[in-house]
Amino acid sequence: MLVEKNVPLQSLNSFHIVAKAHALCRIHSQDDVLALLQQPQWAGADKFVLGGGSNLVLTGDVKPLVLKVEIGGRKLVAETAKAFIVEAGAGENWHDFVAWTLVQGYSGLENMAMIPGTVGAAPVQNIGAYGVELQDRFESLDAIDLDTGHVFTLNAAQCAFGYRDSVFKHSSSGSLDRHQRPIGLKNRALILRVRFCLPKRFVPMLGYADLEKKMAEHACPQPSAQQVFDWVCEIRRAKLPNPALIGNAGSFFKNPTVSVEQCADIIARDPKVVHYVLADGAIKLAAGWLIDACGWRGKSVGQAGVYEKQALVLVNRGSVNGADAATGGEVMTLAKAIQTSVYERFGLMLEMEPVVL
Ligand code: EPU
Repeated sequence: MLVEKNVPLQSLNSFHIVAKAHALCRIHSQDDVLALLQQPQWAGADKFVLGGGSNLVLTGDVKPLVLKVEIGGRKLVAETAKAFIVEAGAGENWHDFVAWTLVQGYSGLENMAMIPGTVGAAPVQNIGAYGVELQDRFESLDAIDLDTGHVFTLNAAQCAFGYRDSVFKHSSSGSLDRHQRPIGLKNRALILRVRFCLPKRFVPMLGYADLEKKMAEHACPQPSAQQVFDWVCEIRRAKLPNPALIGNAGSFFKNPTVSVEQCADIIARDPKVVHYVLADGAIKLAAGWLIDACGWRGKSVGQAGVYEKQALVLVNRGSVNGADAATGGEVMTLAKAIQTSVYERFGLMLEMEPVVL
């Protein structure tokens, strides 16, 4: 296996931060991982699995061996009376995969169009948008244990999906919980392939306000999956920056969940606070609104800024392919200043979404 040294990462992270990997290996197949693990120099080395780099803040050069996942392939693997089971290689671009499923006649992923990143990264943070999360369409995945080379399959319960969360975001303890679920696979498992369960009966998911607006505008109460896909693309283009042109990592903070009492306290501070009641009675607040209310929209620290059209997104105001890009330090200084001001005004500490390396 070829391990490249001192590899520039600016084009491999969607923030386009300038940094290098001390060592990087491109993984095209399961056998590539096994071959790498047979090399004594790399078998025991610390490793970092890189997909599309779209949920990442690099604060310096990366010392662990970077495994850049480039495993391709997409196919129908099974069909039941009610669903198509479709599989994609972890290195496939997520949006291209969603577009491909629709061309094949498989609906169900259209609300998650245009989410940056790869198929293999999608389960890691249980990506979601416009009322649908990856876990709603997930069947199973195959991964390889980077300590042992053992290939294993996980179902949805074993992935322990939560809001922008899964077993892959938590550190390894090497043990199983009482349901025999692995605890913590962060930096230990490399996802090889993901399978999706796409229902044959198409039910458009239109509960999200932006989609309801599109439906009314187009006077189209029963849109096709392709129509929903097109609307989601339009909505995202209108309010989210294209990472190819403006570096960013999507939503920078998670939307916080609070109790009814905490929400009442926040409403007392500002009655206009945007909030939604969840099925379990807890309340979700819009982090973008909280940041906006603190006056951060459009502000900058060095070359790191708060996007003008959506305050939940931090952007690189420098170039995407030059040395004047925002640094990871600037992004983190801005993120911490936002956390402090939201805490001082609303008594809530926002949790960051991207991985900081
Ligand atoms: N808002 C403001 N000011 C802002 C930004 C938002 O007042 O600067 C208000 C909006 O007016 C709206 C509310 O906040 O009332 C929510 O905003 P929006 O509908 O844009 O969604 P979001 O909660 O900010 C979440 C996801 C996005 C996903 C959208 C659509 C998280 C952390 N983010 O954003 O996911 O695309 O909903 O489903 O859950 C991502 O994870 O990278 C991501 C982009």
